Amino acid sequence: MENRKVSCRPIIAYRPIRPSDLAVVEKLHSDLFPIRYEFEFFLNVVNGCDIVSWGAVDRSRPNSQSDELIGFVTARIVSARESEIEDLLSFESSRTDQKLVYILTLGVVDSYRNLGIGNSLIHEVIKYGSSIPTCRAVYLHVISYNKPAIYLYKKMTFQCLRRLINFYFINGQHYDSYLFVYYVNGGRSPCSPLELATLFVSYAKSGIKCVAAKLWRNEERKISKWPKCKESGCLLPTVQNKRIVTAEGSRCQFV
Ligand SMILES: CC(C)(COP(=O)(O)OP(=O)(O)OC[C@H]1O[C@@H](n2cnc3c(N)ncnc32)[C@H](O)[C@@H]1OP(=O)(O)O)[C@@H](O)C(=O)NCCC(=O)NCCS
Repeated sequence: MENRKVSCRPIIAYRPIRPSDLAVVEKLHSDLFPIRYEFEFFLNVVNGCDIVSWGAVDRSRPNSQSDELIGFVTARIVSARESEIEDLLSFESSRTDQKLVYILTLGVVDSYRNLGIGNSLIHEVIKYGSSIPTCRAVYLHVISYNKPAIYLYKKMTFQCLRRLINFYFINGQHYDSYLFVYYVNGGRSPCSPLELATLFVSYAKSGIKCVAAKLWRNEERKISKWPKCKESGCLLPTVQNKRIVTAEGSRCQFV
């Protein structure tokens, strides 16, 4: 783990994380994150217990290091119904078994950054999520000041759907987080462009009907001396595009 000088032509390969990676995985997490993880988490990662993971290695390094991790991503499958983003999914009422992939941790050794490794690791997760027919999205949290990660998720067309106030508590200080979602297999938010378009069309139709009804009634008034009924207002669909949700322990705000 010592000499991590990047050769001018690194040969990056991706492979599953395995039990022999335990020490490196633990070291990388403690180097890269301000949060401490329990040892059991690392055991679950390397043994694939309830966690899926991919590692990046540089095959151009000397033999003893050519299989050593220089990047990783870990993720877990969760039930959509039990997840915190259930309300961000447009559910097919008949389907109760929908799944999500939640990215737990992602990291690349400093000297290997900005080479597209983070991007490729996330692509592995997206590919994996897409290969599960019942999976509807890949999602994650990112601390609000983590510019490189936020840039990367946006570049990969993740959608930033929520800001969670004081989500993290690190070294005695609170930090907000953003929730990013990448929909797969036809998964979508309840306010997808399609739904908004449908809403717009129905709005326009109601508007036209309303105007037509008014014109018709005006004509009727002109014809008959006594109007048949009182003019009533039109009911138009409304779009709730901003809301504040208060959940136990955290205030969530849609962005
Ligand atoms: C986030 C992280 C995994 C990205 O890994 P990476 O291999 O450098 O990612 P990529 O090379 O695929 O993409 C990085 C992109 O961010 C851009 N970037 C880097 N620093 C940036 C900054 N301060 N502000 C904006 N963009 C930045 C790069 O230019 C690059 O974009 P480009 O391809 O358009 O040039 C890596 O920075 C890291 O390990 N950070 C520490 C751990 C961490 O924060 N993990 C994420 C927790 S949610």
